[in-house]
Amino acid sequence: MPTHILGLETSCDETAASVVRDDGAILSNVVSSQHDLHERFGGVVPEIASRAHLERLLPVVRAAAADAGLTLRQVDAIGVGNRPGLIGSLIVGTSAAKALAWSLNKPLLGIDHVQAHLYAARLHEPSQGTPMPLIRYPALGLVVSGGHTSLYAVQSPLQMQLLGRTIDDAVGEAYDKAAVILGAGYPGGPNIDKLARQGTADPHRFPQSMLGKTSLDFSFSGLKTALLYAVRGKPAGRGKDAHFEQDHTALSQQERADLAASFQHAVVVTILKKIERATYTLTDQAQNPKSILVGGGVSANSLLRERLGDYALQNNTPLHLPELPVCVDNAAMIAGLAHERLKHGEQDDLSLPVIATTALD
Ligand code: KG4
Ligand code: ZN
Repeated sequence: MPTHILGLETSCDETAASVVRDDGAILSNVVSSQHDLHERFGGVVPEIASRAHLERLLPVVRAAAADAGLTLRQVDAIGVGNRPGLIGSLIVGTSAAKALAWSLNKPLLGIDHVQAHLYAARLHEPSQGTPMPLIRYPALGLVVSGGHTSLYAVQSPLQMQLLGRTIDDAVGEAYDKAAVILGAGYPGGPNIDKLARQGTADPHRFPQSMLGKTSLDFSFSGLKTALLYAVRGKPAGRGKDAHFEQDHTALSQQERADLAASFQHAVVVTILKKIERATYTLTDQAQNPKSILVGGGVSANSLLRERLGDYALQNNTPLHLPELPVCVDNAAMIAGLAHERLKHGEQDDLSLPVIATTALD
């Protein structure tokens, strides 16, 4: 008999629930985005996020069970993202998961959201009938999201070590800010991706920050500032009189598209160079990666997917990219990784804490 896990995800501004079968088939994937609630504040407001999770979670859970054709009693375990994230938001999801696990008498599994992003590439639609891709370990893991830009040495779905991470902005955050600078609107990342496709990249236009010869860390704040100056010009005046004399409205549509393309080029080339460097570093330590695993919202980026595909082909390394619906935050990746923990005989009790940081950094 196949087993089914209900996953819950409420770490930031998406209220999500999903049922995943033990072969990685996504039987349902319900995501209620709160973007409309936070947009006018220019960022996620934690208090609003927690309240919205509270209102939305039960209908989302019911929809996930119904879409999967199961009752909640037929689910075998409850997985929940209990770290990292906004504490208030995590409390809502984790408390609901505990209540469900207790009342249904099912195992409870707390899942690290960042680790779950690296599991998303193993999930698939049941209609595809494809078996779960076999991942060759050790793998090199790349998480590119709104909160993280990190490389990991991955030994198994549940075991990995941090190799490098961003020292300032996460790459998704840089995309979102670039969208504000270029007047590309909301949602930032996908809109810059689209705009960039209409432009021509100048590969020398923007800095590709490598942070020294051996660093596996990332930095995107210099790139963001370079884009800001390219759009608005250098600030006039000094101190509190400093101001920009123009904004994106001074540029033609083609100029904006070309800048977006150059920005995207700098981001993607930097990430690829870091992957290459991490591969050398691991190979030097006799841990040469046998595959590349990618996850997080920015893994939906069209140029990144294309260039990673070329890189993997040239280097004869299997590449595992998530399907588009499970790149951005979702609960299927939580349920999927919960299966791995359950298979290993692990489970949590009702004292499961919520933690603002990932276990991996
Ligand atoms: O993984 P995710 O949903 O949330 C976090 O865990 O942070 O990632 C969200 C981020 C946002 O910054 C969004 O702009 C970015 O992923 N993103 C993209 C694309 N789609 C989503 N960035 C670039 N290109 C895309 N196509
Ligand atoms: Zn995420």
